[in-house]
Amino acid sequence: MTIQTIPTISELRQALERQRAAGKSVGFVPTMGALHAGHASLMEVASKETDLVVASIFVNPLQFSATEDLGSYPRDLETDTALAEAAGVGLLFAPSTDEMYPEGAVLTSVDVAEISQRWEGASRPTHFSGVATVVAKLLSIVGPCVAYFGEKDFQQLAVIRRMVSDLSIPATIRGCPIVREADGLAMSSRNIYLEQDERIAAVVLRKALDLGIEAATNGESSAKAIGDLMANTISAEPLAKLNYAAAVDTATLEEVEQLVGDVRLLVAAQVGRPHLIDNASVPTMKEGAVS
Ligand code: PAJ
Repeated sequence: MTIQTIPTISELRQALERQRAAGKSVGFVPTMGALHAGHASLMEVASKETDLVVASIFVNPLQFSATEDLGSYPRDLETDTALAEAAGVGLLFAPSTDEMYPEGAVLTSVDVAEISQRWEGASRPTHFSGVATVVAKLLSIVGPCVAYFGEKDFQQLAVIRRMVSDLSIPATIRGCPIVREADGLAMSSRNIYLEQDERIAAVVLRKALDLGIEAATNGESSAKAIGDLMANTISAEPLAKLNYAAAVDTATLEEVEQLVGDVRLLVAAQVGRPHLIDNASVPTMKEGAVS
């Protein structure tokens, strides 16, 4: 199927109405463009699981603070369109900022308390409300669908899951595995900002996670011990500036004490210009196994 690029909300709604009338299920992959194999993996899963895949490309000003890279965020619609088409996208929604926010100022915002304030939210206090607001708007435009998000942005995924549950938004949220470079660095549109030596140093995030997983596999159940091990690993890399390293509950993102139940390891560090994040699941003990 040839991809169709759609710039307006009304045209997208009409196109989707026709598809739904024909009985087609809809998969949705929201992105900010600068697409890479990580984005493609979401589109490919969506095209396996649903009849029609809609992807959006919108660099959402609401989720950038004044000091962040909104103006210089990489944009290349032609290359992105080719990648999306090859990954099975049927409709590419690429609205302008005016189309999305015609009033200029946006007076309505969606705030997912608690989950949004931790970790990334501590240094970017308005970021997740910008994400939640635009994703709520995009889901309202697209309508009932299965929406695909990467586990790469694990906190974002938790915020969106909670928003969809709290607001009964008619979307099923699917989290998809992190796609990595050959050396383990999680793919990100911002990796292009890394200088050569920083690119090599950036692998320390994956290394820290691997050491945390290894310690847990060998029986370490103290979340603090695992967090310290990951933090020390990152701090030992001269080009990396540690932001955080922790073991957290997968739904609330609250730091845990023991590796019990559903736990995720999170790490974040500044390497040169970009702030890099990564995460991994970790083997834990069954609930009730620890007194
Ligand atoms: P963006 O950074 O473009 O990411 C779009 C989707 O691709 C997100 O769900 C993200 O988690 C996923 N993704 C990015 N890198 C990945 C990787 N290496 N492996 C797997 N998935 C990956 O996230 C956003 O845009 C925005 O915040 C958005 C949700 C579109 C709202 O503006």
